[in-house]
Amino acid sequence: MWEYYRGKSIFLTGGTGTLGTAILCRLLSQAAPKRIFVLCRGGPENAHAKWQKLLPEAMAAALFQSSCVTFLSGDITLKQMGLHESDWRQLKKNVQVIIHAASSVSLTCPLPKLATSIIAPSISLAETAMEFEDLQHFVYVSSAFANAHLWKTTDKSEVTVKECIYSLGPHQEVYDPHNLDEWAGFGPQTEHEWRSVLDTGTSIEFDYNDFPWPYAYAKHLTERLLINAFMQNEATEKLLIIRPSCLGPAITQPFPGYSSSTSTPSTGLAASILLYAGKHMKFPTRSTDPENEVTMDEVPIDVVVDRLLSHTAKGTFGCVHAVAGKKARLRFKDWWPVVMKERRLPWTVQPEWTFLDWHSAKLHPAAKFYVILGTSFEFGDEQASKLLPKLNAHEKLHLKLFADETDETHPYHLASRRDKIREVGMRMAKKKHLPRCFVKLCTRPGRQSGSDLACKPQHTMHEYGAKFDVSKEAESEAFRHSVH
Ligand SMILES: NC(=O)c1ccc[n+]([C@@H]2O[C@H](COP(=O)([O-])OP(=O)(O)OC[C@H]3O[C@@H](n4cnc5c(N)ncnc54)[C@H](OP(=O)(O)O)[C@@H]3O)[C@@H](O)[C@H]2O)c1
Repeated sequence: MWEYYRGKSIFLTGGTGTLGTAILCRLLSQAAPKRIFVLCRGGPENAHAKWQKLLPEAMAAALFQSSCVTFLSGDITLKQMGLHESDWRQLKKNVQVIIHAASSVSLTCPLPKLATSIIAPSISLAETAMEFEDLQHFVYVSSAFANAHLWKTTDKSEVTVKECIYSLGPHQEVYDPHNLDEWAGFGPQTEHEWRSVLDTGTSIEFDYNDFPWPYAYAKHLTERLLINAFMQNEATEKLLIIRPSCLGPAITQPFPGYSSSTSTPSTGLAASILLYAGKHMKFPTRSTDPENEVTMDEVPIDVVVDRLLSHTAKGTFGCVHAVAGKKARLRFKDWWPVVMKERRLPWTVQPEWTFLDWHSAKLHPAAKFYVILGTSFEFGDEQASKLLPKLNAHEKLHLKLFADETDETHPYHLASRRDKIREVGMRMAKKKHLPRCFVKLCTRPGRQSGSDLACKPQHTMHEYGAKFDVSKEAESEAFRHSVH
């Protein structure tokens, strides 16, 4: 499948983020693309600074100097992403694959703001994509929790979510984007809904359905508007929607344990629990046996990357989950003791389950943020199984398409992310005006201090350079970025 990318040009947004960086590393180390255009806010220097935080120094340098990478300084919220006409001409003429991973990831940001930081930029990019001369695939990174409102539509202690579009009307119809006839009747309503969000800051669909956060609804609406845009242009088979669940540390790529403190929700949750000085923490659920029924779907980043890149290469279209799934998701009753093992305050915290609503003001702030903690979703991932027969034996062996609970970097091993837990703890302490020494008291030190990652492998620039196609001439060329 890596052959698909040989000689292709890719436009990647969000390439400085946690997921985008992993996509970039994987493409550069495994495939031989002609060029990867990376959209970055604040120019290449900002990209380099972000990679230095996420990656080992030598790997960040090699990525920065790869002759395949062209930086485009822009911002998705600006008109035409703030790119020059000449940049767009270059993209329209050369790019075969667009991977749109840039997004606001603020769960609690109000809908009107998300309309400009998630929905509008994605639609605008899709419309521009129709003018690309040789576009083969448009990949949109959504979220499996775009359908988290389904939790409120049933009494069951587990909710099944398929790789489909769920309508937000009273009848909860399920649409398969492969079936265009079904979609044709539904599409125009979505345009109407979007108009309402733009004009009034909300919509009947948003008010009627109980989403955990406006972010989830914004992703839901974006998915549907993108399907409309591609359908109207008779290009539905070019649109792939990837829905990761909660990102967790990588199993192997770009290195074992790769993650960030901002994009791994369970790391943040663990930090809040470790810093909590009380003895009981209230979590909302409707399960009558939460200890046994509550689960968390956390997917290793490299599983998301490999599903995204292999589905794209094999021409999958429609919605695809990138999740741990029923076999590898975490069970609350297994995860909680691991957090308690990390706790340094000399008393433990007990989870206190309550039937309070997930928007209730009475919840602990951590529970308010991670409202889905008291739930259990079974995210179907049949598309990943369907992909397997299309891969050869070597690809099956080397691609990480499934999370495996026996892996050493499995999220149960919180010890491997102590540095990240402390990093989040420091940010939380700053907000609450708590002293840094309190965080040091409550959390355990990682293997390395500072911004270094505990699991960062130590290789030389030469080794990474060979991987990321950095040659002497390339190095100097790489600095001639198209920066504005
Ligand atoms: N983290 C999760 O658990 C999770 C779960 C499901 C889905 N997702 C989705 O996965 C994608 C990547 O998320 P992530 O966790 O990797 O987030 P992240 O680390 O915060 O990365 C977000 C990326 O988007 C870029 N970005 C944000 N606003 C932008 C703007 N106005 N203009 C240009 N670039 C902008 C950021 O650029 P800067 O470097 O300039 O900030 C960064 O590169 C997102 O679409 C997110 O919704 C994430």
